[in-house]
Amino acid sequence: CGIVAYVGEREAYPILIKGLKRLEYRGYDSAGVALLGTRINLYKKQGKVSELEKYAEGKETASTIGIGHTRWATHGAPNDVNAHPHTSGDSNLALIHNGIIENYDSLKKELINRGHQFSSETDTEVLIHLIEEVKKIEKCSLLTAVQLALKEVIGAYAIVILSKEDPDTLIVAKKSSPLVIGVGEGEFYVASDATPIIEYTKNVLYLEDEDIAVLTKGEKIQLTNIKNQQKTANTIELEMKIEAIEKGGYEHFMLKEIYEQPTSIRNSMLGRLNTVNGEVVMGGIEEYEHKFMNAKRIIFVACGTSWHAGLVGEYMIESLARIPVEVEYASEFRYRNPIINSDDIVIAISQSGETADTLAALEIAKEKGALIYGICNVVGSSIARATDAGSYTHAGPEIGVASTKAFTAQVTILALMALTLAKKKGSISESRYRELALELNNIPNIVEKVLETNVAVEYISDIYKDAKNFLYLGRGINFPVALEGALKLKEISYIHAEGYPAAEMKHGPIALIDADMPVVAIATKKNSYEKVVSNIQEVKARNGKIIAVVTEGDTAVKEIADHVIEIPDVDDFFDPLITVIPLQLLSYHIAVMRGCNVDQPRNLAKSVTVE
Ligand code: G6P
Repeated sequence: CGIVAYVGEREAYPILIKGLKRLEYRGYDSAGVALLGTRINLYKKQGKVSELEKYAEGKETASTIGIGHTRWATHGAPNDVNAHPHTSGDSNLALIHNGIIENYDSLKKELINRGHQFSSETDTEVLIHLIEEVKKIEKCSLLTAVQLALKEVIGAYAIVILSKEDPDTLIVAKKSSPLVIGVGEGEFYVASDATPIIEYTKNVLYLEDEDIAVLTKGEKIQLTNIKNQQKTANTIELEMKIEAIEKGGYEHFMLKEIYEQPTSIRNSMLGRLNTVNGEVVMGGIEEYEHKFMNAKRIIFVACGTSWHAGLVGEYMIESLARIPVEVEYASEFRYRNPIINSDDIVIAISQSGETADTLAALEIAKEKGALIYGICNVVGSSIARATDAGSYTHAGPEIGVASTKAFTAQVTILALMALTLAKKKGSISESRYRELALELNNIPNIVEKVLETNVAVEYISDIYKDAKNFLYLGRGINFPVALEGALKLKEISYIHAEGYPAAEMKHGPIALIDADMPVVAIATKKNSYEKVVSNIQEVKARNGKIIAVVTEGDTAVKEIADHVIEIPDVDDFFDPLITVIPLQLLSYHIAVMRGCNVDQPRNLAKSVTVE
């Protein structure tokens, strides 16, 4: 979900609406704002922020203080009533909330016993009633009531409270859900990430868990925590540029981000790969060289696309550096009492750096004594701050919900890691190391060429846009790319798709093949090329339709496939960086042709801060 709030001299409503639109990628099933006029004016609407705007048109929105929210439903259906903000029983307080209050049910029962009535099914409404109740019973300030109420809460929260009694003050608090405060001249902006803030101020404060900040117009931040310990508010300067979060002439963020890949991959390597002598230096690894050299195992924890990048990383690190690697879904790892030792290195891969399961998995690993490392895109994100060390991907903000440039940036970092570790371990020859490093350095130029397949891919997309199912096949390092291609298609076009290791097809999915089944095969001239060709033949023998990604100049696959997409030849290790590009484009075009909302596919969210 997305949070945005403002207090200062300006009109709050337009700031909230603009901010909510920038945050829509975090969730978009309903949206709402609360603004302080003669009373708290509350406007909430199911659907996109534009629906809310239409609804609020002509209504009283004048105010210099307000809070806004765009929701990704957890408790309760996405409708007007369940949308945030929620108000207290006496309507003097309004609250927006990200996260989950796990013990909301018992708190709710207790509050009902005390005479509270609830209009929604949300855990958030329970929290604001709880604060109201504590304030009434303790006859204390709102700040104290918030501190006391949060002590009773189990779960995760990032909250902003608006109070009729304090017309110039917002109270914000967080635990396990991100929250950032932008500090302007006598004014404050609050948001769940920096995107809505950067056009106003670059001066920000990231709250720590259990921090509470009191933001009063014209005054300094008052920073405390739920134990009422006073803290110093240390702001930092953000480097993000406004262009990075706008579409820049592209129809969709996803397409812009696909086309940004030559630059984003280059940025991932910047300062790490010496283009003259091919030397790779990874700061995070240098810092913990001893640990890395003695690691018995590297475990990647991640979700979604980042998990696919982890699978590519496993292949690279095991082959080059000969260190055993495991790749785990963070959500599984955290709940199965994993065996972790102090000579393990647990690496979280996360674009947002906020995925709740990934963060929790890291914390478990840390408790068990492992070195924890982060590969994150968002600078200053929760995972980046929780880790002992890490490498930012520097891909720039990714706004499209379907991850594209973040994936190639993650794979680039993993390639750099594999090379660094291999060199330090002595498991690679000096000449092979240099050859690979220099080839990696040239990958952005190759990606530029691969983007030229766009026209061919668009043509193929038109033929298969109405298919009901798709199968994606790949072997070796391209197997995770098959998974990623299938995920992209599912996410944005709602066509069912499966990724499979090509050889496994005969153990099940082959039963699905008929003339209506398009099969996307990654069949570049790599180690297992002949084997993939046989797998393609197996599909053809059953009348399946083959769309093959092949190496330029290929003849064997061309003869049997219905369509080929030709891409340049690169070393095996870097193939995922280029084979994934046509698959991203294929899902993009099919989704556009089917009239789907590419950047905001139904039911999904970019940053999943719930478990
Ligand atoms: C969500 C997003 C995916 C992403 C996954 C992991 O499901 O929609 O695109 O791959 O979360 O996110 P992370 O930010 O941890 O990489």
